[in-house]
Amino acid sequence: MKKSYPNTSDRKNDHIQLSLNDNGNYRNKTAGFELYDFEHYAATEVLLTNIDLTTDFFGNRIYYPFIISCMTGGTVETGKINEMLAETASELNIPVGVGSQRQALEGTNQHQSFKVLRQKARNVPILGNIGAAQFSKFKGLDEIRLMIDLIEADVMVVHLNPLQELIQKEGQTDFVGLIKNLEKVCAKITTPIIIKEVGAGIGPNAAKQLLNTGIMGIDVAGAGGTSWAGIETLRNGENESEFWDWGLPTTYCIRKISKLKKNHNFKLIASGGITNGFDIAKSIILGADYTAAAKPVLQSVADGKSENGIKLIKNWFEQVRQIMFLTGSHNLDLLKKKKLIKKKDLY
Ligand SMILES: Cc1cc2nc3c(=O)[nH]c(=O)nc-3n(C[C@H](O)[C@H](O)[C@H](O)COP(=O)(O)O)c2cc1C
Repeated sequence: MKKSYPNTSDRKNDHIQLSLNDNGNYRNKTAGFELYDFEHYAATEVLLTNIDLTTDFFGNRIYYPFIISCMTGGTVETGKINEMLAETASELNIPVGVGSQRQALEGTNQHQSFKVLRQKARNVPILGNIGAAQFSKFKGLDEIRLMIDLIEADVMVVHLNPLQELIQKEGQTDFVGLIKNLEKVCAKITTPIIIKEVGAGIGPNAAKQLLNTGIMGIDVAGAGGTSWAGIETLRNGENESEFWDWGLPTTYCIRKISKLKKNHNFKLIASGGITNGFDIAKSIILGADYTAAAKPVLQSVADGKSENGIKLIKNWFEQVRQIMFLTGSHNLDLLKKKKLIKKKDLY
């Protein structure tokens, strides 16, 4: 029997609980990283101690090309999670996003659960977040301004989640007005606007249309990690859905969208199923400027401490450093110029 979930707070807490294990992951589709190998460069002269992993993120120097993806806020419990994510980001000097700020628009009750991110991470870029279902219905700029001001956001993210809203029992599937509002907001708000999916990927045709609105970045959030059709199916008290594995794999999205850089100026973020430094290095070689992850970071701080989040991301970038040594890449620009080998071409 389907349960009913009356409000946004209950839904948020369900999403967190269901993300603490991997039952809601894609089952028969991967992000595609395993299909590629690096070209081992035996003549490397790169010094391990001399590798530069820093990069620019919309005018801010960050230590790693990595963002803690938008996840939480809106309840007391998720405010605590935001505190740990902020500590992690602050220690590593990397950007971090808040989850949907929809509740912040409904009243001031839970404003603190979002604000804590800025309070605990004063010096790193912070990303605001709102879903397309709400964004497409905004009449003016007040809502966007409120969300940006609340957390002093450096970047504002609009998430597209048609699959999730479709499977969610109480989902809102009306996105009419999305493109018109993106054009308006991009023209009038100076804070950069980024678009992301939540795990089903952004394909080249959607990307082309979105890039014409003036957005400054795309986070592909592709298939291969968290399946939001899966999580919503589990929330509905069911275990199977023909849409569980729907979506475009992360590697496909990066390959296709990075080609659009010829005609558009934007930053490309690879996310969806990133679980180690190998995935990160491959994403950058395939054309991403930054990488991001949600669920693995959430799981790492589930014990209530930011130390494990810090350790996880540091370990991933230690792997990236080793891969850069083995591929002869002193810095991220040089890594980007390398080519991956399709595993089928190795034999
Ligand atoms: C518990 C949880 C809550 C999330 N909430 C949001 C959200 O509010 N807004 C958003 O844009 N994405 C949200 N996401 C999606 C992530 O930002 C990310 O795009 C997606 O989970 C794929 O990345 P992953 O495979 O590393 O988990 C959420 C993810 C998780 C795990």
